[in-house]
Amino acid sequence: MNIALIGYGYWGPNIAKNIFTNHKLSLHSICDLRQVRLDKAFNSYKNSTYYETDYQKLLSNQEIQAIAIAVETSSHYQIAKDALNKGKHIYIEKPFTSTVQEAIDLARLAENKGLTIHVNHIMMYHPCIRKIKDLIDNNELGEILYFEAMRMNLGQIKKDVSAMADLAIHDLSIIDYLSDGKEPFYIKAVGEKKYNPKESLTFLMLRYENFIAHIQSSWISPLKERKLIVAGTKKMVVFDDVRPSTEKLTIYDKGVDVIAGENVEYEDYAVKLREGDILMPYIPAQDALFTSIEHFAECIETNKLSTSDPQQAIRILKILEQAELVMNT
Ligand SMILES: NC(=O)c1ccc[n+]([C@@H]2O[C@H](COP(=O)([O-])OP(=O)(O)OC[C@H]3O[C@@H](n4cnc5c(N)ncnc54)[C@H](O)[C@@H]3O)[C@@H](O)[C@H]2O)c1
Repeated sequence: MNIALIGYGYWGPNIAKNIFTNHKLSLHSICDLRQVRLDKAFNSYKNSTYYETDYQKLLSNQEIQAIAIAVETSSHYQIAKDALNKGKHIYIEKPFTSTVQEAIDLARLAENKGLTIHVNHIMMYHPCIRKIKDLIDNNELGEILYFEAMRMNLGQIKKDVSAMADLAIHDLSIIDYLSDGKEPFYIKAVGEKKYNPKESLTFLMLRYENFIAHIQSSWISPLKERKLIVAGTKKMVVFDDVRPSTEKLTIYDKGVDVIAGENVEYEDYAVKLREGDILMPYIPAQDALFTSIEHFAECIETNKLSTSDPQQAIRILKILEQAELVMNT
């Protein structure tokens, strides 16, 4: 299947590389408004692909069946809409769109035309997150109590989205995936706008029916952190994505036991801290972006919905939109 990539800025080259090495897909063209970026692409792919500055020309090309979109979020909607109207399947970077309404419109358009949209919520395709999903589904963690996520760095400050839309979206997609699509009923957020029109630092707090979540997103931190704690009543897991691939996931057999019955203090129950083994399971390294792109190709081949389809993106964008609203009132 021929696919064209639109956007060869910071992230586009990673997508191009993973399409190029995927045996189900053929990188037909690379498009960017800036010639300097196309020159850079040419250094890597020479005459094995075409180069174009006008994406409309790619959309009219009948040889191309699918489009990968890796431009600024504010341009996602228009390009995706144009591509769907020309009958192309879509791989699109997160955040899917700038608003929930745009996401709903694109989801409807794709459905009416029988086309696939795959939103690259990349963390769902990360082997460690898949392992955590297995642990939860096999009840090894017990009831989930909370998610605590930290995603911080110095830069890259973006103009068209907040740090929350850019970074917390990864954590929200993880929570959505791990909880089988649960939605929060309480959303609170605060942010700091000192360096760009949107927030460069945000704290997001969410209450779901059975657990709570706290997500910190920052472009103004002296430390680079990509950390997630998933705490269950039986075990707790720490995913530290800046560590080497064999040391990213740690499972703590620690927790708090409630001792009910006679001879306990504090009326009819007492709590006792439990300390146990600490395990770093071996998880074979697997490139999450490659897996995501592979899944996109399979969805088109087998005509099934992507695990990160527009409906998931809509659930996540609803949280972000509500959080932006409370943050600015
Ligand atoms: N999944 C991830 O982990 C991840 C990581 C980084 C970025 N992203 C996403 O990838 C997207 C791109 O981010 P980036 O950091 O690469 O941005 P960027 O600004 O570095 O690159 C965007 C590129 O798109 C080009 N472009 C813009 N409009 C165009 C148009 N109409 N036609 C052709 N080219 C056009 C620009 O010239 C630029 O080279 C964003 O949606 C971002 O959120 C995802």
